[in-house]
This record gives sequence, C-alpha cells and structure tokens, in this order.
Amino acid sequence: MAGIYIHIPFCKKLCFYCDFYHIISPGDNSAFIDTLLKETSLRQYYLGNETISTIYFGGGTPSLLSVKELGLLLGQINRLFRVEENCEITIELNPDDVKPTYLRGLKKLNINRISLGIQSWNDSHLKVLNRRHDSSQALFALKETLKAGFENITIDLIYGVPGMSTGEWTSNLDFTFSFDIKHLSAYHLTFEKGTVFGKMLEKGQIAEINEEESTSMFNILIEKAESAGFVQYEISNFGKPGYFSKHNSNYWKQVIYLGLGPSAHSFNGYSRQWNIRDLDGYIKFVNSGESFFESEELDSKVRFNEYIMTSLRTMWGIDLEYIEKTYEKEGYDYVVNLAGKFRDYGLMKQNKNTLVLTNQGKMICDNIISEFMMPGID
Ligand SMILES: C[S@@+](CC[C@H](N)C(=O)[O-])C[C@H]1O[C@@H](n2cnc3c(N)ncnc32)[C@H](O)[C@@H]1O
Ligand code: SF4
Repeated sequence: MAGIYIHIPFCKKLCFYCDFYHIISPGDNSAFIDTLLKETSLRQYYLGNETISTIYFGGGTPSLLSVKELGLLLGQINRLFRVEENCEITIELNPDDVKPTYLRGLKKLNINRISLGIQSWNDSHLKVLNRRHDSSQALFALKETLKAGFENITIDLIYGVPGMSTGEWTSNLDFTFSFDIKHLSAYHLTFEKGTVFGKMLEKGQIAEINEEESTSMFNILIEKAESAGFVQYEISNFGKPGYFSKHNSNYWKQVIYLGLGPSAHSFNGYSRQWNIRDLDGYIKFVNSGESFFESEELDSKVRFNEYIMTSLRTMWGIDLEYIEKTYEKEGYDYVVNLAGKFRDYGLMKQNKNTLVLTNQGKMICDNIISEFMMPGID
C-alpha cells in the first residue's frame, strides 16, 4: 500500500495565512504539466512494487488545472504504477472554480473524493483571510458537488480567525453539518512566518485570539462533530465511519508515498525527500537531469520523534507494542514513564496497549508532544 501526492502550486489570489508553496497562476500550465509527466516517469520505481491506494491533488489550487490536464497526469500514473481498483482519488477545489461541467469531467476521470476549501461560511471572515470566493459561491460549490453525485465530500474550515466569535464558529459548524458531507478538516488559524498575517503579527497590526476563545472553539468543534456522527480520528480531522481519509491516515501511519511537483515531500520508509520549492527551478532541473530534491536518511531518533508526533495526534495513539519492538526496553520505559505524568493529570489515557490523549490533552497536544521529543535513544 502506498500513496501519490501531486502538488499544483498555482493560485489566483494569495490568502494572507498560507505558507504552502504557491505562486500566482501564469495562465499557461503546459511546461509544468510536461515536467510533472516527466518526473512521474523518472520516479516510477520510488515506491518499489507497492500498489497505490490513494492519489491526492493538492496545492496551491489543483482546480486551476483543466480536466484534460488532470487526465494526462492520472493516465501517466495509471500507466506507470499499479493503482488499486478502489483507489481514493482526491482533488482540492477552490469554491469559485466549481462548475457543473468541471465536476462531470472529474467524475469521468474516476476522481472520487472532493475537498472543498470553504474555510468559513461568513463573508467577513473570508475577507479577513483574503479568500477569492464569497459565501454564496461556497454554497453553490457544495450544492453542485452534491448534485453531481460525489458521495465522498470533505470540507476545510478555519477557526480562530481574528474577529470570529464563538457564536459565528458554532453557526459555521451547524451549517456545515446540515449537509451530507462525510469528512471535515477544521484547522485553528496559525500565523506562519513570512505570510502576510505573520508579518502583520510581528508589527502588532493583528492579534491572535485569546487562549480561552481558542479552547472554547475547539470544544465546540469536538461536541458538534460528535453529535453529527463524526469521529475525531486526528486533532483536526473528523470523518463519518468508513470515510477517514486514506491519504491523511497513510501519512500518520508511516505508509510510504511519492510526492510530485515543486515542494512535494516523499517518504520511502527510511528516508525523506523534498522537491525544490521553486517552479522555475523545478522545471529546469527535472528537464536537464540535474537533482531537483534534497533528502535526509532517518535515524532511529528522528523516526521515534516522527512516530510520536504523528501518532499522538490520532485516535490510534502510541502503540506500546510497536515501541517495544522497535525501540526496545529503553524506548518503552521512556514512553511509559513520561506518559505516567500526563495520565496523572488526566491528559492521557491507556487503552490496553495504546496511549491516547484525552480531550483535555488534545487542547495542549503540541506541548505534550514536545515533551516526548529528544528521547536520547539512537
Ligand atoms: C494549502 S490549502 C489548499 C486548498 C485550497 N487551495 C484552498 O485554499 O481551498 C489546504 C488547507 O490548509 C488550511 N490552512 C492553510 N494554511 C493555514 C493556516 N495558516 N492556518 C490554518 N489553516 C490553514 C486551509 O484550510 C486550507 O484549505
Ligand atoms: S489557502 Fe489555498 S488558495 Fe489560498 S493561497 Fe493557500 S493554496 Fe492558495
């Protein structure tokens, strides 16, 4: 089992919070598509003989590609890899790109999971975030996607937006759950260095919402999702049973994946690789046969840290049997001793052989994870 991620770096307007590699769309995608096809061919052996269970078009804005361009990419993947019959194929769509003809085209390509970047149903939040769509376009996009017969729809929402009240966040969730969607990714706004928001924060022109509000929005999210029948299988990800994202779950379960396109990351079980974060450089180096990525071999300490970082964020938690098998008594004792403290505080609990965060623990998940880092085993 393995996954393929394809990064489409184009956007039409730059959102103030976004740190993903993105550039204003040049209009003509042909050089980029040709290069992606070439990279796919160059890296066809990266995943060994594994079958592909998930393909994900992310960005940037994959919905700036035409159906024909997406078809070329999927055709190349199907030719060069063994793709499972029921492979999850996801595309991120920006609401203002959604049109019935486009959706019909995606269906014909066997794309079976649609991720809509709604972010908020409230126009004032969308303005603050500098989104290019408004709430009526978001509603149109969701209704049309449902009408087109996509049954596996996921929505992205952001909370903790400056000026957003807990009441507005509650309304966003109620409205979201009033539709037949199967999955929700809800992220607390983060202020990333180098983004417009990051710079505004440094200059004191914008402020993060306070901790009390953050906590209360997170609690509302957990409650509303649960009563709508969604399972919080990761801190920011909620799915109806049977609809957890294979793509996301693979990342958290250390399944190998190939990342194509500028800035895309890959993992083959023992090393990580990341492509150059620059479209022109990517096109130039892939086509001239020069190296277009950097890589890092993962030693046992890095792998341990990565395992803790990802597993603690999920409902499956830390598997103590895996820890004992992989990191022996030293690693096992380290985890169990540290976990004892968090269990005493009611931040963690042990279910048979796994350690998971309680709802209280999830609120300070990053702090707990950082205490588990630097285990001193190598
Ligand atoms: C890279 S975006 C791509 C999706 C698509 N381009 C869009 O904007 O709808 C993936 C998701 O990450 C989330 N995201 C990106 N940056 C974030 C930030 N700084 N804070 C919170 N959420 C963020 C947004 O919800 C966004 O939909
Ligand atoms: S959030 Fe999406 S649309 Fe906005 S800049 Fe980032 S990738 Fe582009």
